[in-house]
Amino acid sequence: MTKNKNNQTIWRTRVKKKGSVLFQKIGSSIEIDKNLYKQDILGSIVHVEMLFRQKIISFKIKNKIIFGLKKIESEIKKKKFVYKSEYEDIHMNIEKRLFEIIGDDAGFIHTARSRNDQVITDFKMWLKIETLELIKKLENLNKNILKVAQRNINTIMPGFTHLKNAQAVSFAHYMMAYIEMFNRDKHRFKNNLESLNENPLGVAALTGTSFNIDRNFTSKKLGFKKATNNSIDTVADRDFVLDFLYSASVCSLHISRISEEFIIWNSDAFSLINLSDKVVTGSSIMPQKKNPDTLEFLRGKTGKTFGNLFSMLTILKGLPLSYFKDLQDDKELVFKTNETLNNCISILNEVLNNFSPNKKRMLELAENGYIVATDLADYLVSKHGMSFRNAYRVTSLIVNFAEKKKKKLNELNINELKKIEPILTSDVLKVFNLKYSVNSKKSYGGTSFANIKKMITKYKKNIL
Ligand code: ARG
Repeated sequence: MTKNKNNQTIWRTRVKKKGSVLFQKIGSSIEIDKNLYKQDILGSIVHVEMLFRQKIISFKIKNKIIFGLKKIESEIKKKKFVYKSEYEDIHMNIEKRLFEIIGDDAGFIHTARSRNDQVITDFKMWLKIETLELIKKLENLNKNILKVAQRNINTIMPGFTHLKNAQAVSFAHYMMAYIEMFNRDKHRFKNNLESLNENPLGVAALTGTSFNIDRNFTSKKLGFKKATNNSIDTVADRDFVLDFLYSASVCSLHISRISEEFIIWNSDAFSLINLSDKVVTGSSIMPQKKNPDTLEFLRGKTGKTFGNLFSMLTILKGLPLSYFKDLQDDKELVFKTNETLNNCISILNEVLNNFSPNKKRMLELAENGYIVATDLADYLVSKHGMSFRNAYRVTSLIVNFAEKKKKKLNELNINELKKIEPILTSDVLKVFNLKYSVNSKKSYGGTSFANIKKMITKYKKNIL
C-alpha cells in the first residue's frame, strides 16, 4: 500500500507537480469552512460507525478513527489545531491531522463518501442549527414588538398611503403589522427545514457507492428525517442555500422597512418618535445632532444581504450537474448573511427598547389632512342610505369647503355642513373624532381597539 505522506496533499500521487502557490492560497476555503468543524467531525464519526455496522471496516479501525476525531475536536476547541491552507478545506485538514494521530488506518475514513456529499452534509447540519436559532430570535423580536403595541393601544397616529395622511390608526396596530411580517419570516425559515432534513451523506461523488452502506442509519444519527433521493441532484443542489439566502433577504427587507419608517418618524419634520441616546450617534461638526445611525445601518445591511442572494443565484445559473468548485463560495455567502441578520435583529431589538412614541405629536399630525373624510362618507352611507359614490361626492364637497375656509372638518359647524348637504343633523359631528374613527374599523383585521386587544391575546397564545 502506498503510504500517505503527511506533508503532501492527498492527490499528490496523481497530480505530481506542485500547483500554483497563489491558487493554493486564494482557492483554499479553510478560513471560511473551519466554521463547520463540529459538524464535520460528527458526520465522520457517524459515517465510520455505519461503515462498521455494515461490516465495511473493522471494530478496531472504527474505534481508532473515532478516538482520533475526538482528539482533533478537542484540539480545535482548545485552539491548538493548526489549519493549513494547502489542505484546502476543513475536510482535508481534519483527515490529514487524523493521519498524524492514528497513522495509516485514517485512510479508511473516506470509504464510500466524497467531499461532495460530506460538505453539504456538514453545511445542512450547520444551517439547521442556525435556522432554529433564527426562528427563536424572531419570536423574541415579536415579543418585543408586542410589548410596544400593548403600551400603545390608545395611541392614535395618522396611517399613510403615498406618505400622505390617509386614515387614523392605533400605533399598536401599526406596530403589529410588523409582527405579521416577522411571523411570516419565521415560517419561511421553518419551511426551509424540510429540505434541510434530507441527508446527503452516502451519495459520494455523484453516483452513489458500490459499498453496502446504510443511509437510514446515518440519517437518523445525524438528525435528518430521510436520505436524499438522487445522488446527482444531491451533490449539485444548492436550493437549500438559496432558500436560506432568500428567507434572510425578505427578513432583512422587513427590518429595512421598519428602520426606514423609524428614520422618517424620527426626522425633525415628522417628530413622531424619540430615540434615546443609546441608539443615536453625534455629528463631528454639528453639535446639535443626534443621528439615527443604528437604523441606517440596518437599512444599509439589506443591500449586502440581497447581494449574497444574487451571488448564489448567479453562481448556480448555467452550472451543469454536478459538483463544481464554483459551489465552494456558498458557505461564505451564508455565513456572512447569517451573521449580519443576527446582528440586525439584535440591533432592532435595542432600538425597540430605546425609543418612545411622541403621542402628542402623533395626535396633532393625525388631526391634519382631512383624515376623517372616509369616516364621514361611511357615515352618510350607513346613516342616510346614500350610495358610497354619492357619499364620496358629498364628502369631497365638504372637504373643498373646509379647505377654502382654512378649517379642519371638526371646526365646521352644523349650519355650514347643512348648506352643502341638507339631510345632515348634528349627530354627524361625532365622526370627526379620531377615537371614533379608529374604533369604527371593527372589521376583522381592522384597527378598532377591541380588535387590537383580541389580536394581542391571539398572538400571545399562537405565535409567540
Ligand atoms: N471545499 C469544497 C467546497 O466547499 C468541498 C468539496 C470539494 N469537492 C471537490 N470535488 N473538489 O465546495
